[in-house]
Amino acid sequence: MKRLLPLILYIAPAFVSAEPASNMVWIPETLNFVKAGDLVKGEQLAQSCVSCHGEKGISTMAMFPSLAGQTANYTYKQLNDYADGKRQNPMMSPIAESLSEKDRADLAAWFQSLPAAQNNASQEDISKAISLVDKGNGKKILPPCFVCHGSDGAGQKMDTPALAGQQAEYTKNTLLDYKNGTRHNDIYSRMRVIAAQLSDTEIKQLAEYYQQLK
Ligand code: HEC
Ligand code: HEC
Repeated sequence: MKRLLPLILYIAPAFVSAEPASNMVWIPETLNFVKAGDLVKGEQLAQSCVSCHGEKGISTMAMFPSLAGQTANYTYKQLNDYADGKRQNPMMSPIAESLSEKDRADLAAWFQSLPAAQNNASQEDISKAISLVDKGNGKKILPPCFVCHGSDGAGQKMDTPALAGQQAEYTKNTLLDYKNGTRHNDIYSRMRVIAAQLSDTEIKQLAEYYQQLK
């Protein structure tokens, strides 16, 4: 046993990190379930989100993300992750827990149907961001953001979120959360690996860049 102890201590952290980032599994049944989300039910349920996420899903407060125009699969996944504790936030976790899976699908469909926020061009220097979005950084093995999030920042159907029009303060904070590991619900660590290589200045610029993108 004495000899085993160091071994157990050595592999224990590996077990902790071997826990899946998310319980979401994109099987056809799940995709169809989200696709069948009911807009009328979703609109009714969304009344309780307005105080933080704004009228028609467009947030007017920097800390709260806009939800309008977000891809339904992504919204559905986030609500499930909050409910499971895979993504943690003191405001969102209890709200997500109180929703049924059907409610989450209905809400996801409703927010996807709304037009995304549109903002004025950024007055700040976003040159580093433009280069990262279009070209990435070969020296650091950083793929360009557009490969997954689209050149229009509209995301992709499966589970890649739209970023265009999002509150810059929220985007900055969530990228910092991926960077320091507070947010760890990204399957295959896709965003944690990327955010870990971004400087805080690059993160700030990327957040500004996406806020003004239409
Ligand atoms: C009391 C304020 C509050 C209310 C009410 C609220 N939210 Fe949130 N929501 C937040 C905050 C704050 C965040 C960002 C949390 C974080 O960084 O993880 C958030 C994040 C989210 C996200 C993740 C967005 C993203 O881009 O990843 C979704 C989805 C979401 N909320 C859906 C909802 C829905 C649906 C409702 C209504 C049923 C709702 N929220 C009600 C405060 C609120
Ligand atoms: C390999 C594909 C891929 C690349 C490249 C990528 N992302 Fe992501 N990104 C994702 C996925 C998938 C998610 C959703 C993860 C989850 O469920 O938390 C995500 C989530 C995000 C979020 C959270 C959005 C929200 O509403 O909370 C931000 C912000 C983001 N990415 C920014 C970027 C930036 C900036 C770059 C370029 C530096 C980038 N991403 C490159 C796949 C990618």
